[in-house]
Amino acid sequence: MKSYLRYVLESSVLVVAIVLTRVQAQVTPPNLVVADKLHLPHKPFPFPKPWPTRPPPKAWEYKISDYSNHPCKRECVAGSRPMTCRYVFVVENYFTLSRACHDCPYNQSHCSLPHCVPADGLRKAIKVVNRMMPGPAIEVCENDRLLVTVVNRLEPSEVTTIHWHGQLQEKTPYMDGVGLITQCPIGFNAKFTYRFKASDPGTHYWHAHSGPQRADGVYGALIVRRPSSPLLEPNLGLYEHDLSDHVIIIMDWTEDSVTDRLSRYTHVDYDAKPRLMLVNVSSSSRCNNSNLEEIVVVVVVVVVVVVVVVVVVVVVVVAAAVVVVL
Ligand SMILES: *[C@@H]1O[C@H](CO)[C@@H](O)[C@H](O)[C@H]1NC(C)=O
Ligand SMILES: *[C@@H]1O[C@H](CO)[C@@H](O)[C@H](O)[C@H]1NC(C)=O
Repeated sequence: MKSYLRYVLESSVLVVAIVLTRVQAQVTPPNLVVADKLHLPHKPFPFPKPWPTRPPPKAWEYKISDYSNHPCKRECVAGSRPMTCRYVFVVENYFTLSRACHDCPYNQSHCSLPHCVPADGLRKAIKVVNRMMPGPAIEVCENDRLLVTVVNRLEPSEVTTIHWHGQLQEKTPYMDGVGLITQCPIGFNAKFTYRFKASDPGTHYWHAHSGPQRADGVYGALIVRRPSSPLLEPNLGLYEHDLSDHVIIIMDWTEDSVTDRLSRYTHVDYDAKPRLMLVNVSSSSRCNNSNLEEIVVVVVVVVVVVVVVVVVVVVVVVAAAVVVVL
């Protein structure tokens, strides 16, 4: 009864509000007309020149690279001069198993074609840098100067920033890439160049710091190496080779979009924990399944072999016994 009364009250308040707005609209015409009636001085339209036209995009904005052969990816030598390392990161909405994948997964050789993101075979909208997931790996030496131009080619109204995880940004806090805290986020069709020194060596990663873009695919490796000298690299005794091929990136992977999952988590009390992982973009769960199948096959083969051997031994022993007895 109480809630019914409240409903009636609320709807009548709404009706009154609508009626009032209508009445007001009749009484007060739109602002512009009022200004005219007040005989305000006419202001010229504040564009002295024709509309500024956007300069045509430079070619490099579209030339995307995986930077697998970047000159900064080199052996770090003690005493050598740091390099300036330039990258262009184009952030886009993308899809797994896009047209770039041709016949993947039916023809496995097509799955490694450029711009093909097969993931674990799940068709899903993702966000990527340079049409890769993970995005291009940045591999530099300590004290190199990084210049990463991030171009936002997402949807209009969608903004982005990139955070360089593990870099303390001591003299460049405004290059930390946390939207609305250390910089204005990069708007649609805009670009921003991050300039900072790779001052903190280690195995780090970069990722988008805007909405759920990181979970949707905007992430990649950021490796800052030191010269392999015992004085500079205290962990030298712990490994023999520090190769690019040894970099592995692990990512949570969900069947639905991350926004979908977060809304479910908040409003439906759904368990938001991802069940899948991508290891350098191959799924662990499917590996587990195939492992299980392999184990079953191996066990069956072993049992069959053992049974055959036992039967053969028994037959031989019985035959021998029969021969001896006779
Ligand atoms: C897979 O693709 C390669 C290259 O396009 C082609 O040479 C090969 O015949 C294809 N394999 C199959 C089974 O279609
Ligand atoms: C994993 O990805 C990184 C960069 O994203 C690459 O350098 C590395 O070679 C890959 N590792 C394997 C084992 O494929």
